[in-house]
Amino acid sequence: MSTGQMSGAEAGTAFPPGLPAADPLQRLALTEPEFEARLRVSLARAEKLLQATAHDAPDPRVAALTGHLAATGGKRLRPLLVLLGAEFGDPWADGIAEAATITELVHIASLHHDDVMDGAATRHGVPSVHARWGERAAVLGGNWLFARAARLAAGLGPAAVHLHAEAAGRLIGGQLRELAGPAPDENPVTHYFRVAAGKTAALLAMALGIGAVQAGAPATAVAALTDCGEQLGIAFQIADDLLDLRAPAEVTGKKRGNDLLAGVQSLPVLLARESTDPADAELRALLDAGPVPAADVPRALELFEHSRALAETEAVMHDRLERARAALAPLPDLPAQRGALLALCDYVALRTS
Ligand code: IPE
Ligand code: IPE
Ligand code: MG
Ligand code: MG
Repeated sequence: MSTGQMSGAEAGTAFPPGLPAADPLQRLALTEPEFEARLRVSLARAEKLLQATAHDAPDPRVAALTGHLAATGGKRLRPLLVLLGAEFGDPWADGIAEAATITELVHIASLHHDDVMDGAATRHGVPSVHARWGERAAVLGGNWLFARAARLAAGLGPAAVHLHAEAAGRLIGGQLRELAGPAPDENPVTHYFRVAAGKTAALLAMALGIGAVQAGAPATAVAALTDCGEQLGIAFQIADDLLDLRAPAEVTGKKRGNDLLAGVQSLPVLLARESTDPADAELRALLDAGPVPAADVPRALELFEHSRALAETEAVMHDRLERARAALAPLPDLPAQRGALLALCDYVALRTS
């Protein structure tokens, strides 16, 4: 990392606040006060550990970089999944806050790398890590966070180490697969689902699973929660693809249409390119030409709004959410906890950020 990127007044200064921190529990439609109170206590513990770990770097200037995304926003979906998984065992067991922190550190590390891959200038409504400190520093900072997550996992024991290693490997493998693009004989939509399973679903599945494992939940519950997380993760990525086309930057903290600009082969892009509907011809031509030039992005977004591809993408997302709900069937009868997971499935379909 060049000293030019890290030195100067900027490196140590406070950042604009980023997106307002939404209450992660609002998404769960909770009705049991004890359950809610437990989640609040555990989320606060995990948040404290997350901030401390993300800012625990070799030098205060580096801490500003490694702590940037933890400090500027994020929905904390993965820590919440850990806590929900833990409800199927002893939610006060040791290591739950650590497990929740591991998942968010891995997530944030992956965002460091993802924003380099996608050339994304903003994240959480503020400059992305690479936009602020340069690509080399962003990548190294991401690696540092992966290492911190591994250290926390080591403190929890072999089961957590295994879950962390598998999830981080699948996640980075998904990113590498995305970078490589489809193999010559691979259907691009098949490739998309393989990428999404790795880069997004692996961590959501691991979050529900590690929470349950750490809490000593029965193996059938761990398996059901992990299956649910896999399906929820794919749906979550599809919802994210849709938001890229629809949601204003003030809400997502990410530039609308960035996937088009960066030439990302998101599911709606792939389905539009496959469409044989004559009404999609103009959109197809724009997308087939490679990354969409900035001047054409507003037109592409307008065409998407009325495209069949967008409706098809939504249908695929709903199918995955249905599979996520169905995966919960083998769980023990804990209506409040099951209800919270079902509410989370609804949230993914309706989310606006
Ligand atoms: C963004 O994840 C990356 C994807 C997996 C689609 P989130 O939407 O969970 O990001 P934050 O943490 O809330 O910013
Ligand atoms: C998800 O992909 C990124 C990771 C899981 C690392 P995206 O590229 O769609 O995420 P956003 O849209 O930049 O948040
Ligand atoms: Mg991205
Ligand atoms: Mg995206």
